[in-house]
Amino acid sequence: MKTPRAFYQPLAIGAPAPLRDLPVQLERMIHFVPPHVEKMRAKVPDLISRVDVVLGNLEDAIPADQKTAARRGFIEMARENDFGSTGLWTRINCLNSPWVLDDLMEIVTEVGDKLDVIMLPKVEGAWDIHYLDQLLAQLEARAGISRPIMIHAILETAEGVKNVESIATASPRMHGMSLGPADLAASRGMKTTRVGGGHPDYMVLADGTAEGAPRAGFQQDLWHYTVAKMVDACMAAGIKAFYGPFGDFSDAAACEAQFRNAFLMGCVGAWSLHPSQIDIAKKVFSPEPGEVAFARKIIKAMPDGTGAVMIDGKMQDDATWKQAKVIDDLARLVTE
Ligand code: GLV
Ligand code: MG
Repeated sequence: MKTPRAFYQPLAIGAPAPLRDLPVQLERMIHFVPPHVEKMRAKVPDLISRVDVVLGNLEDAIPADQKTAARRGFIEMARENDFGSTGLWTRINCLNSPWVLDDLMEIVTEVGDKLDVIMLPKVEGAWDIHYLDQLLAQLEARAGISRPIMIHAILETAEGVKNVESIATASPRMHGMSLGPADLAASRGMKTTRVGGGHPDYMVLADGTAEGAPRAGFQQDLWHYTVAKMVDACMAAGIKAFYGPFGDFSDAAACEAQFRNAFLMGCVGAWSLHPSQIDIAKKVFSPEPGEVAFARKIIKAMPDGTGAVMIDGKMQDDATWKQAKVIDDLARLVTE
């Protein structure tokens, strides 16, 4: 359920833009493109057929002296390509940066009709979403854009995590939220130098034995708490949760494991920062055929979704039927 609109008032120029329902579409990977690099822009036509979402990144990883080039490159790439059913997003600079006003003014005015979602970094509270919401209302009304642009927040500060529930419900424009583990690690004072993933020292030791045999250590998921908190806030608000970046491109197995944890916890997608991560995300965020087959057995055995049955020795009831529906619905979306 979306919360009722409390503050979003498009200016009374032309017809007020109706708010969109959340698109029921696959967004398994949000693929980041650095739009100031011509060679990367040239790859966009090919990417459109390979990914669910193309995102032009204007924020971190774009050098300060390339911010204008990235913004203009994004506008060019939005104009020159037909994105069809592939999402077109941008990550703008944060709200207290010297670039964000120009990002919004130029992009919404020039290609706002093609833009699906704005990713807003370093969101600390609902006030950041309210501010962007009103700016978008003004710019859309001025440009005659009738399809409202949605907002996707990055959860990457301690303050943001504290306020995650009010961020999730801050506007009917809210599309979803991504975990930003790199900035969050810095904001929290974590003792790491990584972009997502685990850390070999974040572990528990198995209990010792009487004989003093070597003890096994088990690495823990650094992001479990935040992902769980984010998923609950998002699902309660009727918006989507995503895992963010995984920076070690050389470690496909660890990337896959991190994405899978997020998928199992309720996330619908993750960022792909490198082409090799596109297929990892596609694989992880599409349900596994064995799981789909089992889910369909449950649905078939309980046509009206009530009661209790045994399947392969396991008890199923109304609640597992609902879990089966989540998997079946996603499988249908993937094969559509
Ligand atoms: C992403 O922006 C992150 O900080 O991890
Ligand atoms: Mg960040």
